[in-house]
Amino acid sequence: MARFGVLCCAVVLAVQLVSSLPVIPRADEVEDAKNALLMQREDLFQGDIAGIDMDNRNGILSPTKRWTNQKVPYVIDPKFTASQRAVVEVAIAQINNSTNVLLVLRTTETSYIFIQAGAVNTGCYSYVGRVGGRQIVNLQVPVPGYGTCITVGIAVHEITHAIGFYHEQSRTDRDNHVEINWNNINPNQRHNFNNYDEKTITHFGQPYDYDSVMHYGKYDFAIDRNVWTIRGKEPYEDTPIGQRRGLSPIDIAKMNAMYPIPKNPTTVAPTVQTDAPEPTN
Ligand SMILES: *[C@@H]1O[C@H](CO)[C@@H](O)[C@H](O)[C@H]1NC(C)=O
Ligand SMILES: *[C@@H]1O[C@H](CO)[C@@H](O)[C@H](O)[C@H]1NC(C)=O
Ligand SMILES: [Zn+2]
Repeated sequence: MARFGVLCCAVVLAVQLVSSLPVIPRADEVEDAKNALLMQREDLFQGDIAGIDMDNRNGILSPTKRWTNQKVPYVIDPKFTASQRAVVEVAIAQINNSTNVLLVLRTTETSYIFIQAGAVNTGCYSYVGRVGGRQIVNLQVPVPGYGTCITVGIAVHEITHAIGFYHEQSRTDRDNHVEINWNNINPNQRHNFNNYDEKTITHFGQPYDYDSVMHYGKYDFAIDRNVWTIRGKEPYEDTPIGQRRGLSPIDIAKMNAMYPIPKNPTTVAPTVQTDAPEPTN
């Protein structure tokens, strides 16, 4: 299988990259690099977004793609082990605790996310926004030598797609904030670095966020994995991007702008602008 070969060799290259770095990376950075490869499927839009024709991107500005009553019912695949399930539950609790989005175990709702224990070579992927019916959030389970999607940060990233968010570097204004090294990206993968106009997405008046859990990492989709593909614009070229720990403060602000009603009426509503387009230049 072609994809097996690609994934296998990409993992080997990532390990080589790590061993050739002058500074010994933290263990979690090594893991992040390996796991990030699972978010770079060649057959999926931007590597981990399902259900989108490469030329027809439906924007989440569309109210029909947002979740009704801010409620996202979920089912966790019974095939996860107890410890894998626990990681997924922490990711769900993190989103649920820090935003207005209400994640609830599905009872009879027709639209819900099914968090699937993905097999080898399925990667990590999700749809963007509410599709209608049962929609899969796929998290490849750990297999020795392959990396895994079972980390809190990756699970938060994929569930955040399902809640209604694209990648941070898809923003209309991203060229003011990041540089893209097109020469190090295969021509057939360059579409992953497209951005969108304001008819498709909104950033709710929030600033560009290098710390977003939805931002690509510096080496994502690289041909030569020792060389960056995306990085902050001078003087931010060394600013870390691609963190997979969890929602950043700006991620939270944007999620609450999309879903503005606080869950608990005694909680003070976050002060965020809604749908205010940023000035462009
Ligand atoms: C999310 O929060 C709501 C209200 O704060 C709570 O009722 C619900 O059980 C929480 N869900 C999860 C999965 O933590
Ligand atoms: C979410 O909130 C619950 C209840 O307050 C708490 O027990 C739990 O540790 C929190 N989890 C996360 C990941 O924030
Ligand atoms: Zn993604």
